[in-house]
Amino acid sequence: MDLKEKIRVIPDFPEKGIRFKDITTLLKDGDAFKYTIDQFQKELQNKDFDLVIGPESRGFIVGTPLAYAMNKGFIPVRKPGKLPSETIRSEYKLEYGSDVLEIHKDAIKPGQKVVIADDLLATGGTILSTIKLVEDLGGEVVGIVFLIELTYLNGRELLKNYDVRSLIQY
Ligand code: PRP
Ligand code: MG
Repeated sequence: MDLKEKIRVIPDFPEKGIRFKDITTLLKDGDAFKYTIDQFQKELQNKDFDLVIGPESRGFIVGTPLAYAMNKGFIPVRKPGKLPSETIRSEYKLEYGSDVLEIHKDAIKPGQKVVIADDLLATGGTILSTIKLVEDLGGEVVGIVFLIELTYLNGRELLKNYDVRSLIQY
């Protein structure tokens, strides 16, 4: 299946000059959504890991079905003030703006192996920040999967010490 065909490109959103990759057109297509999660599973089939980590909010959309399909637990990484128990935080720069992410302190046990899932690799800031949270808790990132990679932003360079997979590239 050609997943690129299922993604809608919106010019000048949310700012002039940005060509936004809208995954809602893929998500509403049941076959395309299932195929996406199946492809993630294929990328991860030989990996030993305990948990899937997804950064709010689009990381929840791809991360939770992946965790379910592979019979793993899911850990949300959230924007500040959303998680109710004790958290640690990490700041990051976005393609446009900057933000903070948090994770529950007891979300990951030292030595646990995790896979991070998100819809999009742009600058890599979100995922670098997510990696930092995982590693601060003693977890090991054994793989990172994206639906889309914007290769021209070179986020892969920032993540060069990790096993990064993407299903489609622009
Ligand atoms: C988008 C996207 C990725 C991130 C990629 O999330 O879902 O998480 O940007 O950009 P980066 O590689 O430059 O960090 P966004 O922060 O817009 O929030 P959302 O997932 O809540 O829509
Ligand atoms: Mg996101």
